[in-house]
Amino acid sequence: MATSENPGRGTWNSKLGFILAAAGSAVGLGNIWGFPTQVADNGGAAFIIVYLVCCIFVGLPVMIAEITIGRKTGKNPVGAFKALDPSGFGAMIGYWGVLCGMMILSFYLVISGWTLAYVIEQILSFTGNEAGASWFGDLGNGPKNAIFTVVFMLFTVGIINGGVSNGIERATKVLMPFLLFILLIMIGYVLTLEGSAIGVREYLMPDFSLIDMDLTLSAMGQAFFSLSLGMGALITYGSYLKKDQNIMSSATYVTVVDIIIAFIAGMLVIPAMYVAFTQGIAIFGDDGDLISSVSLVFTVLPQLFENIGGSLGLVISVSFFLLLGLAALTSSISLLEVPVAYVIDEHKVPRKKASLIIGGIVLVIAIIISFDIGLIDHFVNIFNEIGLPLGGMMTCIFLAWVWKTGNAIVEIEQGYPGAAESGFTKTWAFFISYICPILIGIVFVTTVLNIIR
Ligand code: TRP
Repeated sequence: MATSENPGRGTWNSKLGFILAAAGSAVGLGNIWGFPTQVADNGGAAFIIVYLVCCIFVGLPVMIAEITIGRKTGKNPVGAFKALDPSGFGAMIGYWGVLCGMMILSFYLVISGWTLAYVIEQILSFTGNEAGASWFGDLGNGPKNAIFTVVFMLFTVGIINGGVSNGIERATKVLMPFLLFILLIMIGYVLTLEGSAIGVREYLMPDFSLIDMDLTLSAMGQAFFSLSLGMGALITYGSYLKKDQNIMSSATYVTVVDIIIAFIAGMLVIPAMYVAFTQGIAIFGDDGDLISSVSLVFTVLPQLFENIGGSLGLVISVSFFLLLGLAALTSSISLLEVPVAYVIDEHKVPRKKASLIIGGIVLVIAIIISFDIGLIDHFVNIFNEIGLPLGGMMTCIFLAWVWKTGNAIVEIEQGYPGAAESGFTKTWAFFISYICPILIGIVFVTTVLNIIR
């Protein structure tokens, strides 16, 4: 199926298709190990409150902006900004997004590969093959990392090759509800264990005195990363959206789903950490802070699963890592789709060839990272913490001051008659013009200063 404006380009088959795919992009490693650890590391429930503010008052408006630009132009980020700004200056934002997407994907694949390796590690350790288990469980094992990175890339390219509705939509339609189901079952189990009550309290009782600039920075960064904003992923997904769909409500659903899944993941991981603590497993580092996110999920939880023991422990751990892998897959496809859509649209390359070319380039970087996982931190600093807020801020400024909110509202009106008169739309226009760029700007400048210092 094709939109009237873009014959030959794909569209989502159903309203739910777009929401599921965009939510699938949002829900990933960021929610399931990033969010819970940030919560624990930043004073529990206090972080959740600031995070909610960032998602709703910055994330949601930027998401609406990206989807609107995407649907208006029906193009990848580079083509979209070009179409709205013939001077060509705006296209820089698009190129920046394509670059960030490829760089984020390259380390995202390595971490995603760990989830698959851990499925095997858990099975081997269950069958008593300790040597094999420790080979698969070693996060610094370069050859192993490279193999699983390639495997994960093949899955990602396979889905991308299927195109918009056949590949992305069908995959996420099945994977998303499955993900929620496994999470809820695991929470039910963990909450019956001794020690979980302390974790629940830690997770739900805010200590407001902990809210400071550092916490706000982390919350803003986490919101951008988790909602998949700032690099044009939702411009690209929005370009496959039909004109009769309501952008405002779709974006709101996606934001709410992402927040809920992160909240639920926290409800699993935080109590599970305290259960582990009760059983004598270290969850705090020498400095008294919670241990870092990578080791948290990939070290503490397997130990917990082992303590559960038996085939039940195996089933739970394999489900968990499978779930984390599935969530990562529906996110990695959105990261790959941005550069692939750019090559298809702007260089007239067929989809399969485009995904192989881009996939190949990303894979080279990902394999380098596989052998030196210390690089992940640098990639996160440059592309997540600087790249995404920068892209998001420029998108706001572009929409409000180059394209103009009035034009955006005309696009939003399609699929939402009366949008121009609604308070929601008016508030959005005000936020995208002033509040969002200023807030992101403050966070961006502070982040850069912190990194330079
Ligand atoms: N949101 C995903 C997560 O939480 C990661 C992700 C996918 C992403 N696509 C993106 C982040 C685009 C930024 C931009 O794991």
